[in-house]
Amino acid sequence: MSALLEVAGLTKHFPVKRGAFGFVSGHVRAVDGVDFELRAGETLAIVGESGCGKSTVGRLVLRLLEPTAGSVRFEGEDLLALSDSAMRARRQRLQVIFQDPYASLNPRMTVGAMLAEPLMLHGLAGTDAARRARVGELLDLVGLRPDHARRYPHEFSGGQRQRLAIARALAVEPKLIVADEPVSALDVSIQAQVINLMRALQDRFGLAYIFISHDLAVVKHIADRIAVMYLGKIVETATTEALFRNPRHPYTRALLAAVPLPDPTATRERSLLEGDIPSAMNPPTGCRFHTRCRFAKDSCRRDEPELAASPADGDNGPADGDRGPADGDRGHLTACPWWREFPPASSIVEAAGQDQDRIRLARLQAAFVTAQREAP
Ligand SMILES: Nc1ncnc2c1ncn2[C@@H]1O[C@H](COP(=O)(O)OP(=O)(O)O)[C@@H](O)[C@H]1O
Ligand code: SF4
Ligand SMILES: [Mg+2]
Repeated sequence: MSALLEVAGLTKHFPVKRGAFGFVSGHVRAVDGVDFELRAGETLAIVGESGCGKSTVGRLVLRLLEPTAGSVRFEGEDLLALSDSAMRARRQRLQVIFQDPYASLNPRMTVGAMLAEPLMLHGLAGTDAARRARVGELLDLVGLRPDHARRYPHEFSGGQRQRLAIARALAVEPKLIVADEPVSALDVSIQAQVINLMRALQDRFGLAYIFISHDLAVVKHIADRIAVMYLGKIVETATTEALFRNPRHPYTRALLAAVPLPDPTATRERSLLEGDIPSAMNPPTGCRFHTRCRFAKDSCRRDEPELAASPADGDNGPADGDRGPADGDRGHLTACPWWREFPPASSIVEAAGQDQDRIRLARLQAAFVTAQREAP
């Protein structure tokens, strides 16, 4: 099956200007050669710490930013080659939801006017009556009432405002929605409701999502596949199931270990993420993670690892147990050639601990169970 979205070599370097004359004194290498594919109806999560380039990838895909290099093909068409007016027409099929719905909803517009606007812009639902009906239908789809159309954004809660943002994205019947930290500002129980809504809408309309989050626990409930980013690059990509069961890259292991364990190995694993993220203006040589990687070797400072399938993938059979391949039909890629040498990481996520993160995860999971039960 061909991909809905194909991203290759995507790169964005922001010039940094200094002084009164605005001389360019360097570049922030926000995104540095990113490749991925997405099929219709599928969810790819992009995860990583703040500043690693997730939002920039999202904005590049939507062409809200022009890339320094690389290509974005949507439904087989090169988006970067389109004129501005042709791109405006494509926007109908590519929508976005942001973390803070309040900032993206016009406070002076009623919900009805706000939802009617994209319909008019794209010539959908021509008559007033048809528009009103469609607005009511959109509100119903996201679990709100048709009479909410008369209200203003400030009259809604955070979770309801995110529902409104989703309704507005849906208005134009998109194929792909880029959701940038859509639930990060919400309470845990509300997060689950919004994610369950997004999943239900995905099933109903065959939507594809790029779901951007710094939180792996949230992503687990919605992503088919996960791409882990570090300093502008994807360091690991796999199916959600494979990534949680068998994380390979030391950075992924460290992110997963933020769900902690009571045993001493886990404590060591957590220490992986001590230290600051290096500057994206001057990323480390070789493997960008080497300054924080507890497995780093001398050669890691020099040699930049490729994001690659392990050479043995696909032929080392069951003898290799769960450290092995067969992780999903489109492979498990890792930008670390040494991952097979590390102690197994699967225990990190499975055992129970008692501190805040663990409790948070347990609450989140419980909330999902409740929200699913309550769903009509
Ligand atoms: N418009 C911009 N100008 C300069 N630097 C930027 C701009 N937008 C983002 N950056 C920088 O690019 C890097 C990646 O940012 P971003 O994509 O927002 O990361 P994330 O979403 O993962 O937190 C950061 O170092 C950020 O400061
Ligand atoms: S290449 Fe080296 S520094 Fe980078 S993740 Fe692997 S072991 Fe660590
Ligand atoms: Mg961001």
